Amino acid sequence: MATPSRHWARHSFRNLRGEPATILAKYGAIAALIALVASLVLAPIVTALVEDWSRRDVELRSTLVFNTIQEPLVRMLANHETDRIQALFESVATDARVMGVAFCRDDGAPEISSKLMPASLTCEKISRSDTESFSFVKVNGRNTLIASFPVSTREMSGHFIIVHDLSFANQRGAEARKYTSFLLAGVVLLSGLFAMALVLILIRKWLQTFRKAVKDASMSGRKSGDTVGFGMLDRELRQVLRQLKVGRGSVDGEHVDWGKDTLRRIIDAELPGAEVFVVANREPYIHNRGDHGVELQTPASGLVSALEPVMRACGGTWIAHGSGTADREVVDSGDRIRVPPDAPEYTLKRIWISEAEQDGYYYGLANEGLWPLCHLAFTRPTFRDADWRQYQTINERFADAVVAEAKSPNPIVLVQDYHFALLPRMLRERMPGATIITFWHIPWPNSETFGIFPWKEDIINGLLGSTIMGFHTQFHCNNFLETVDRFIESRIDREQESVTLKGHETFVRPYPISIEWPPAALKHQKDVATCRKDVRERLGISQDCKIAVGIERFDYTKGVLDRMRAVESMLDAHPEWINRFTLVQAAAPTRSKLPTYRDLQEEALRVAEEINQKYASATQPPIKLIIRHHEPAEVFELFRAADACVVSSLHDGMNLVAKEFIAARDDEMGVLLLSSFAGASRELSEALIINPYDALSMGETLHHALTMSESEQHERMRLMRDQVRSRNVYRWAGQMLLDASSIRKKQRIYEIAAISQAEAPR
Ligand code: F6P
Repeated sequence: MATPSRHWARHSFRNLRGEPATILAKYGAIAALIALVASLVLAPIVTALVEDWSRRDVELRSTLVFNTIQEPLVRMLANHETDRIQALFESVATDARVMGVAFCRDDGAPEISSKLMPASLTCEKISRSDTESFSFVKVNGRNTLIASFPVSTREMSGHFIIVHDLSFANQRGAEARKYTSFLLAGVVLLSGLFAMALVLILIRKWLQTFRKAVKDASMSGRKSGDTVGFGMLDRELRQVLRQLKVGRGSVDGEHVDWGKDTLRRIIDAELPGAEVFVVANREPYIHNRGDHGVELQTPASGLVSALEPVMRACGGTWIAHGSGTADREVVDSGDRIRVPPDAPEYTLKRIWISEAEQDGYYYGLANEGLWPLCHLAFTRPTFRDADWRQYQTINERFADAVVAEAKSPNPIVLVQDYHFALLPRMLRERMPGATIITFWHIPWPNSETFGIFPWKEDIINGLLGSTIMGFHTQFHCNNFLETVDRFIESRIDREQESVTLKGHETFVRPYPISIEWPPAALKHQKDVATCRKDVRERLGISQDCKIAVGIERFDYTKGVLDRMRAVESMLDAHPEWINRFTLVQAAAPTRSKLPTYRDLQEEALRVAEEINQKYASATQPPIKLIIRHHEPAEVFELFRAADACVVSSLHDGMNLVAKEFIAARDDEMGVLLLSSFAGASRELSEALIINPYDALSMGETLHHALTMSESEQHERMRLMRDQVRSRNVYRWAGQMLLDASSIRKKQRIYEIAAISQAEAPR
């Protein structure tokens, strides 16, 4: 079945093909008009010329006849041989065009005339003169020419009269008019046909050039100078297609003030009427049954904090696993609920997953397989065939949901993360017109590391169903392309950074994710001084004590243990901080069903206890470990209360905690310590960059942070705030959608070219 976009292209191409027909009809009508006007103007002239020519011909013949018979006539007149004259006249009058011949005497004596001389023509009525003369008279309704020649003998004088029938001249004129009209029509028709043939040839050539240019533009590895000469038209086409190239050349966010409205405008202008879907495992709002009834929770998830404001700007549907204990109680019959619950702006569609399925798909394949595989945190991944099968089942279930929810055949589907690596291909096969933007929120390892994954070809094949494959950094894009190159037979265009598999091209692009600006969680915050005071009071920390915060999910990739060891190292090296410093470590329990995560929590508690014991005499325990979920407002309050924030990920795709800390500090104070193994370190170069594997140097950097002058803090924070403000999450989404828009435009051109190729007469 043809998709609407294909219908559109087919329709457009028909229009294109209809154009020559319109041109032909137009030029045909103009040619007919020219022929009509020309025959109206030219035909009377030709008729007059032909009639005049015929008349002169008759005059000449009359003179010839007279010259022939003049001598015998004069002789016969002199000899009064009337009978012979009569016979002579009869013989002259045998000519079909001669109506009569006569001799009129000037003295009025009876005339001599041929028998068929019209009776109405008598000598008195015929004008004569001293020289030969010709006159035109209508006789019995017919045009006649009367030629009169003076003749004289010694005894008398008179005129030889010859009457010619001129109606043949009129016939000749009419015929000439007819043939002239035919001739003119023929000439105009032929030249019109010639011109039309020329136009058709030109159009055909134009289409060939167009197809070739489009084909060339879509071919890989073609050097810019490597063009076949198509002249100006070709250059123009190439120019247009170049402008549509995806990414890099597209509108850059630096010059745009990215915000909710900018994103809305882009969607309205570039993707009018497009349906937007987000497919993500984690839902943005979780309904749990608590002590006080149904309670709403916002999950601790970088993905959610980035995508939620985007969805509020775009509208559309977010399809996610309904993981809350009260989720089923609040949805409608289609398992949908409008969110945010207090001021709905988009739809959340919940998908139900059984516990067994969750064990295989989420805990097993996604978090014991892909997660440790992609993060270089030295945790061995586990791959189980049963988990893989559950992963396939759940990917199918989410693909079914997109197909069922979509009202159009070409929606924009934003597929999120490593939970859905198979879904893009499943969707591509069922919705060829969909624009699928897949974003991989975690790092992509090098090809050697990825090579241990038993179903690597399936995962790559699945992801290459996407229109765009996005990563946080160029480094991860390069790793992905290397992996594709190593394990899949496909065409890689290094210049365009795209992979073509099974005739479908996937563009691989870096889109550094970010947060909304200004963040909603900052809205109801108290001033920094109050936050500092309140948090210290609440946590039992003295007011003059410096605080560093660490806030994240309790994940082994975040380097929580290494951070604590760095604190210990700093206190050893700089004991002046004992009693004057506390690390507030807020950690949200996550994936606790998995032994690695449970072990980490236990280990963290043990290490915190060990370090606190080490400085047991201190009134301020150096580590305050708070293991619970914090809502965004609480997180922001902690950020504002802190002197430093430590992000010590062992490996991280981006890490939005770093950006949230910066966004929280509208006082432009506070120091960020940031792991060089987090994607954020590529952008936030004014942070103090740390190696979480090196406790000693991390401890020293922490000491540096706590002793940094206010002016330096201010300068660094100001620059980082500028960076996060301009490169916010609306830019992240906007750039992906702009790229999607240019791909959609490009695809339309390709479709038109393909249809023209298929339908063009050969
Ligand atoms: O950090 C990568 C990431 O996928 C985030 O995008 C997301 O916030 C988190 O991991 C997933 O956590 P969870 O398994 O709790 O949804």
